[in-house]
Amino acid sequence: MSDPIRVRLTGVGGYLPRDVVTNDDLARKFGIETSDEWIRTRTGIGQRHIASGDETTASMAAEAARQALDYAGVDASQVDAVLVATATPDQVFPAVAVQVQACLGMTAGFGFDISAACSGFVYALATATALMQSGQANKVLVIGSEVFSRLLDWTDRSTCVLFGDGAGAVLLETGAGEGEGVLSTHLHSDGRTGDILYVDGAAGCPSTSQHLRMQGREVFRHAVVKLSQAVDEALEANGLTGQDIQWMVPHQANLRIIEGMAKKLALPADRVVVTVDRHANTSAASIPLALNEAVRDGRVRKGDLVLMEALGGGLTWGSALIRM
Ligand code: ACO
Repeated sequence: MSDPIRVRLTGVGGYLPRDVVTNDDLARKFGIETSDEWIRTRTGIGQRHIASGDETTASMAAEAARQALDYAGVDASQVDAVLVATATPDQVFPAVAVQVQACLGMTAGFGFDISAACSGFVYALATATALMQSGQANKVLVIGSEVFSRLLDWTDRSTCVLFGDGAGAVLLETGAGEGEGVLSTHLHSDGRTGDILYVDGAAGCPSTSQHLRMQGREVFRHAVVKLSQAVDEALEANGLTGQDIQWMVPHQANLRIIEGMAKKLALPADRVVVTVDRHANTSAASIPLALNEAVRDGRVRKGDLVLMEALGGGLTWGSALIRM
């Protein structure tokens, strides 16, 4: 019997917009009735990056992808597929993924976008892994890229302070050894909870407003329960316990949710990658941005077991376990 196809993570990259907006800026320059103290104590957020006109979902995604390719020493012409997780595409179509192909000079392969809100990166990772294991691609760029600042209702202080813009990317390649690479992915969604976190208005209809709406407390309640289940599922599927995890690289929505998950796994704070303080919630970009940071600064190393988990609008949620 031939060896199963195993998928390894060989490159990481990230892009953050030039403009940084602190909590104090929101109160002073943007005139939002809020304070650094309120935002920090409830969310852990201190600042966020906000995209300028020339920083689009596609341009940020392409830059993050270039870095991931450089890291891996792979040329764009060798890539078989580009998957972009985003809830904020620049256009209804063409997909951001095919715009990224063009930016990278790719003339072969295929690309498409994945819409699963803040869980998008985990969904894209699972989809890419399945495509590779079925023999349809050997090298795949998996990207999360978002300009949530363009979806926010800047008069709603309960949501506009929570999000930021950015892009993160990984390169996946076949050829991992046994027990290495993507060990498992688990995905879930439940449309009955669609009304607690959504974007109003009609997609692609400029005459209707399109703003993010959220019942924060309800989302918080679901996050704690559902993320715990997704993490248990990942550990059980691999015969592991929380003690086996070297790094948790969670979706960065809220420090209180992240700390709750770390406590559940009995993981000390220095084993959890946190960027929410500087990036705020960048939705599908948050996990690859955090991984990029932790790989490049030497925290996450080859052989480390990394747990990812995310929950977002839909609701959608899921987990992934990767041996680097
Ligand atoms: N600044 C100051 N006061 C504010 C702000 C603000 N930015 N926003 C709301 N308030 C006020 C409210 O008006 C309210 O005042 P009132 O009591 O006089 O009516 C008070 O603060 C409490 O408001 P709540 O919405 O009940 O605040 P809560 O303690 O629930 O915190 C938060 C809100 C931080 C959003 C919390 O519910 C939460 O963390 N939810 C998780 C949701 C989340 O992280 N979503 C991110 C997207 S989803 C995802 O990625 C998983």
